[in-house]
Amino acid sequence: KRIVVLISGSGSNLQAILDQTLEGQINGKIAAVISNRPDAYGLTRAEQAGVDARLLDHKQFADRESFDAALVELIDSYQPDLVVLAGFMRILTPELVRHYHGRLFNIHPSLLPKYKGLNTHQRAIEAGDDAHGCTVHFVTEELDGGPLIVQAQVSVTPDDDAASLQQRVHQLEHQIYPLAVQWFCEDRLSLSDAGVELDGELL
Ligand code: GRF
Repeated sequence: KRIVVLISGSGSNLQAILDQTLEGQINGKIAAVISNRPDAYGLTRAEQAGVDARLLDHKQFADRESFDAALVELIDSYQPDLVVLAGFMRILTPELVRHYHGRLFNIHPSLLPKYKGLNTHQRAIEAGDDAHGCTVHFVTEELDGGPLIVQAQVSVTPDDDAASLQQRVHQLEHQIYPLAVQWFCEDRLSLSDAGVELDGELL
């Protein structure tokens, strides 16, 4: 399978997926990494791995619609089976989301449906939660609201602050994101009107 990864920053999730494609655990290849920010370190990670690293700077576009139209064109030039959002800090237009229906993943640092949006670690602490974590999901038009694929959980301890929680959750992201990509690339995962199916069973 062909994968395109969209990033805005460090790209540690990109790295985790990239490593597994290179090691053969994922039956697929990252065809391109696209960033909307010139300073995203993930672009360097892609270059170091010999993967096409493309910058599409949203500041060069008049509005969200024209940026997303150019983004779709760039993504589609790589003919991907799967598009992976890995710390891509842009809200997507409904047109883009519909275009990649059933083949667009995101990872979010909370146990969705809890804590959509930003500052998830701080919000979990302030709520006094004993458990927190991360979620891989299919992207739909509702922000952080698409059907869930896989979650991983950490316990929140009394000494935790947002930074310590973030660090532990990030480690788990690097485990579950490649796993979800692996399932997709093995044709084990799909999205239908009924929901998400893994190996023919509804999740
Ligand atoms: C992760 O925390 C992810 O959950 C969120 O953005 C961050 C990306 O981190 N959507 P990285 O760039 O993969 O290190």
